[in-house]
Amino acid sequence: MEGFFSTSEVEKEPDSVIGYIINDFDDRCETPFWTAYKRYAIETNDSWHTPGHSGGASFRNSPYINDFYRFYGRNTFISDLSVSVDSLGSLSDSSNCIGQAQKLVANTFSVKESFFVTNGSSTSNKIVLQTLLREGDKVIVDRNCHKSVHYGVIQARAMPLYLDSMFNPDYGIFAPPSLQQLRQLLHDNQDAKLVVLTGCTYDGLLTDLKQVVEAAHSYGVKVFIDEAWFAYAGFHPRYRPYSAIEAGADYVTHSAHKVVSAFSQASYIHVNDPEFDKDFFKEVYAIHTSTSPQYQLIASLDVCRKQLEMEGFSIISRLLQHVDELKHKAKEFTRIRILDTANFAGMFTHFSQDNIGHDPLKILIDVSELDYSNQAIHGFLMDEVGLEIEKFTHSTLLVLLTFGGSKSKLIRLFNALNKLDSGHVSLRKSKTLQPLPQEIPPITLTTLPADAFFAERELLPLHESEGRVAAGLITPYPPGIPLLVPGQLVEKAHIDYLYSLMKQKVTIQGLHDSHLYVQVS
Ligand SMILES: Cc1ncc(COP(=O)(O)O)c(C=O)c1O
Repeated sequence: MEGFFSTSEVEKEPDSVIGYIINDFDDRCETPFWTAYKRYAIETNDSWHTPGHSGGASFRNSPYINDFYRFYGRNTFISDLSVSVDSLGSLSDSSNCIGQAQKLVANTFSVKESFFVTNGSSTSNKIVLQTLLREGDKVIVDRNCHKSVHYGVIQARAMPLYLDSMFNPDYGIFAPPSLQQLRQLLHDNQDAKLVVLTGCTYDGLLTDLKQVVEAAHSYGVKVFIDEAWFAYAGFHPRYRPYSAIEAGADYVTHSAHKVVSAFSQASYIHVNDPEFDKDFFKEVYAIHTSTSPQYQLIASLDVCRKQLEMEGFSIISRLLQHVDELKHKAKEFTRIRILDTANFAGMFTHFSQDNIGHDPLKILIDVSELDYSNQAIHGFLMDEVGLEIEKFTHSTLLVLLTFGGSKSKLIRLFNALNKLDSGHVSLRKSKTLQPLPQEIPPITLTTLPADAFFAERELLPLHESEGRVAAGLITPYPPGIPLLVPGQLVEKAHIDYLYSLMKQKVTIQGLHDSHLYVQVS
């Protein structure tokens, strides 16, 4: 036998396999929820159930807000159903076609169970953390994790042990934490319950998760990977070595809306944990889930799976080829560089040792040699190619090539970069952003983050906060790494760091007019 069929039999009698192939194709193409939902929306003439606009009638018939109806069009409204439609099923009990669609997702992603979440991976992350952690449980967390992870740890009343940020101030980007530190923390905290990492950073740096899972599981510690930016990881051989599911992670979350085809806020939770407590998970899921979820989001998660199953590989292959071509042409530039694995290896000492990878679809462009301000570059790219830059630091721009990407888009990007590189633009010449401070002060917790977060709090001017305990999360963006978490002692180094960022007009989430919340002492 070779794979599923014997080659010689197939050669002799090709018709014998056609039935299998057609059936398999049909199975992979199924969209149980989307199919039933579309049929219901089209066939139903009158709506007597919620939502109250009744198929759009209350918008359409209003002299004041009928423009809302006209903008979105009839289908948006007739398909805005609610959970009162029994036959379509419900998220809370995975009944009917929602449950069938989730099973297909689990099959496509090769996991035991998958769940739909309609409030983003921000909520998926909190659901996983609240399912797994109890008061005081130790959880090893990458400090660079998305804020939903930090809030999830607070909600679960767990005790985080932070992996240091590996930050490169020259480019303003961070790499995954070092595996050496992870192994050390695991060794020193064998009673830890969970390791939480971001599988693929915003800039596309990829952790060798097989090593992470192997290390954590050797101590009986579960692994949860936030793969918000990497839902396509399992659908191309180039990415598979860095896929959390392939690596054997117990829990994985995907923002399907970020890089593949789903509506905003559509997210998957995948579970492979052999000790999965599904009953408790479902209760936690209910805490975080509306009883009136947006069916359009659920439908988009259903068709998103179909696309990944049917053409995930070919779309990714095409996109990778377009990026290769862009990079090749960009070699002509004299000042702009598209950064690649070799550049990242030069930025981070643990890059090669930890076998860190990079997703080329996250295009990080070094513009440090240009003498225009970032605002000017941003404005130019917006006018020239309608490009809303994902993220920029003082020296880089991040452009994401997602499933909606095309060769034409990259051609336009290249042409615009070419103009910037050659100076054929009339932009103001002045650099406004400076490199970020070299060191990010470490986190020293004085108490459980939840205790500080839920304690009585007061707002203090930053310069008066030294020696107090932070009550909220303070996150400068970029780089997006929390500087202060609830329960952390505010030290002079934090205050100096924040002032230096404020001078550079960096956005600081959690700071209110140079004031921050601290625990009342
Ligand atoms: C690493 C990471 N995880 C989770 C999230 C939250 O995802 P969502 O926007 O789907 O809520 C983000 C959002 O940017 C993120 O960067």
